[in-house]
Amino acid sequence: HGFRCLRLEEATSTNDVACGLAERGEAAGLFVVAERQTAGRGRLGRIWQSPPGNLYASLILRPDRHSLAEASTLSLVAALALAEAVELLSAGAVSPRMKWPNDVLIAGAKTAGILLEGNADATGRCAWLVIGIGVNVRWSPPEEAVPYPVTRLAAQPGLGDIEPMLLLHALTGPLRQRLAAWEEGGFAALRAAWLARAHRLGAVVEFKVGSGIIQGRFVDVDGTGAIHLERAPGGIERFTAGEIVLG
Ligand code: BTN
Repeated sequence: HGFRCLRLEEATSTNDVACGLAERGEAAGLFVVAERQTAGRGRLGRIWQSPPGNLYASLILRPDRHSLAEASTLSLVAALALAEAVELLSAGAVSPRMKWPNDVLIAGAKTAGILLEGNADATGRCAWLVIGIGVNVRWSPPEEAVPYPVTRLAAQPGLGDIEPMLLLHALTGPLRQRLAAWEEGGFAALRAAWLARAHRLGAVVEFKVGSGIIQGRFVDVDGTGAIHLERAPGGIERFTAGEIVLG
């Protein structure tokens, strides 16, 4: 994984640009980065506000020996690598956690989100995957604009003001290492490292699935990346979609 970088002043969404390039055959390893986005997208159809000062980056990958479902665990891998990169940059002053599936939190407040998009070929193999990474570096949305706590790197002890491109550079080391481990052993190879940084592991959480919200004790993330919730004593349910609600 030697990464390359396409830097843009502005994009509708770096995911749009990266998906378009991937569709037209761009090789794996390209980061599309924009200083700002005019139509930044979040998960579940949400808007991702994207003024200058933050990191907006989309990485093209081609995990073509894997199904799209297997490849989608790469979003958990990217979140883990991002958490590690931020911790390294802060020299250990902050220890980010991941909220399943792939938000990165600092002290319980959302700091980064990931939007995965991909396509499979006729045989079901993943043709390409785009991992869109949005990090609140210098700016985070006003409290009243989002229904959960948010923060930015610039507000953290031990971090202060950071160039978004410096963060991207810091991410490449942990990401290269974690992607290599994933290629060898899949998410199962990273599961323990992921669980060690999991937000609210062992706690009763609210979980958004489809249009509803359920409750359960967050007991595990398995080797396929699925979350296990104990909804009644001894009654464990496994989910591959949805998200823990940040309260
Ligand atoms: C979420 O938490 O809902 C995911 C947010 C993902 C935002 C990033 S910014 C770079 C890339 N381009 C987009 O339009 N979205 C992702």
